[in-house]
Amino acid sequence: MPNIRTVTPEELARQREIMAETAEHNAALPAPPLAFVDTYGCQQNEADSERLRGMLRDMGWGFTDREEEADLILLNTCAVRGHAELRVLGNVGALSHTKRAKPGQRLALCGCMVQQPHMREKLKASYPYVDLVFGPHEIWRLPELLQKLYTPHRGRIYEARDIDGERYEGLPVLHTPGVRAWLPIMYGCNNFCSYCIVPYVRGRERSREAEDVIREARELIAQGYREIYLLGQNVNSYGKDLGSSLDFSDLLRELNALEGDFVLRFMTSHPKDASEKLFDTMAACPKVERHIHLPFQAGNDRVLKAMNRGYTAEAYRRKVEYARSLMPDIAITSDVIVGFPGETEEEFRDTLSLVEEIRFDMLFTFLYSPRVGTPAAAMPDPFGKAEKQARFDALLALQEGISRETQAAHIGNVYRILVDGKGDKPGRLTARSLHNRLIHLEGPEDLIGTFQDARITAAATWNLTAEPLKGEWNHG
Ligand code: SAH
Ligand code: SF4
Ligand code: F3S
Repeated sequence: MPNIRTVTPEELARQREIMAETAEHNAALPAPPLAFVDTYGCQQNEADSERLRGMLRDMGWGFTDREEEADLILLNTCAVRGHAELRVLGNVGALSHTKRAKPGQRLALCGCMVQQPHMREKLKASYPYVDLVFGPHEIWRLPELLQKLYTPHRGRIYEARDIDGERYEGLPVLHTPGVRAWLPIMYGCNNFCSYCIVPYVRGRERSREAEDVIREARELIAQGYREIYLLGQNVNSYGKDLGSSLDFSDLLRELNALEGDFVLRFMTSHPKDASEKLFDTMAACPKVERHIHLPFQAGNDRVLKAMNRGYTAEAYRRKVEYARSLMPDIAITSDVIVGFPGETEEEFRDTLSLVEEIRFDMLFTFLYSPRVGTPAAAMPDPFGKAEKQARFDALLALQEGISRETQAAHIGNVYRILVDGKGDKPGRLTARSLHNRLIHLEGPEDLIGTFQDARITAAATWNLTAEPLKGEWNHG
């Protein structure tokens, strides 16, 4: 049985009490203390950072994006590949200088990287200027942890419990202003793909009650967010742990029925759990994007089995076929790993074939990175770095050619787009189509947050350019 518990109302009330006391204390200062919160890794981590910021705000903290003026630096870390960890450690090293220049500054690390015992040991031994370290299961305890941090002569604080997760609701969130809002619908992962660290650091699947998700979605829509991004490591297994009859497709339908002008996006979908019902629901719900991120990881069945993915390349092909039969214009994006231990040249060629055949709209390609404690890290890995890099480059080149062609095919098409931000130059804006395709356009900033009908006029490998369908943009 997984070791998951529900945080008690008393425990949450205690955190709220500390937040109120701290807010009172900070309000009496000449200026609010400033926090710099930086996030590494995936959207789940972004969503966690919004929860950390919500608590900081309710404790009377202000925010800065300049490390050198921050009283508290909080890095929310990632462990998915060695590269992510090296980036964090490099920045922590650099921050020792920032800290020396600003007496009283505290440095805190949280998130997936520090849930790993060997990483905490490394930090303890080699990074003595890190003041506070806490794992993903401790996030709701931030008020209490900061109280400890600011207790004189406390010394360094390391807190990470070896549990499978906790359930709680009702702590503050400071959503990043803009068009898009992250909305976690579940936490953790039960899949244990043999290369992946996520289940070890994030614990077992915990779905949020549908009513909590729907309430938060309603609030976000009322606040003017136009794109609600539903998050989970495997959204297709939403609800299984609740023992409820409501699954992810049912949740999508309920959210699709909410009043308002908005779109629903979601990730990630595990192919083994992406059902026909999911694709039927997508096709039937006009507010749900016509895009699925469906990581296939490898095109060879032996490798897929060694990865513990739970599907074959053929089953993957059939799912894509079904989705396209219902929604011919659906965008399909994917993740793939190159250089999994023992993957032969011939097996890798099955990955190339799958990529060639499916013609993904976008492919995120990763070089395999061994993760401490995962089964794959103990598998024999006879192929060298140069060989893996050559395969990686070949895959990238193949996908670039495909992207160029698929992108060019959009020229002349008409799409409904959501203008979501400023572009690279004044007078330029960015937008997304319902297929989550990146689009550049020219127009004034007051278009941000509006839906428009647009015609595609040009295509590059990673973006499209659009003009207004009716001569000028609709200012609403
Ligand atoms: N839950 C999501 C993905 C989470 S991690 C899913 O199942 O699709 C995002 C991507 O990182 C994965 O899809 C995988 O392609 C890649 N990844 C995870 N662990 C990795 C490792 N050890 N080495 C290289 N890539 C990895
Ligand atoms: Fe990692 Fe697999 Fe879970 Fe995704 S589904 S987070 S790749 S273990
Ligand atoms: Fe990284 Fe943790 Fe996300 S390991 S990818 S931040 S779940």
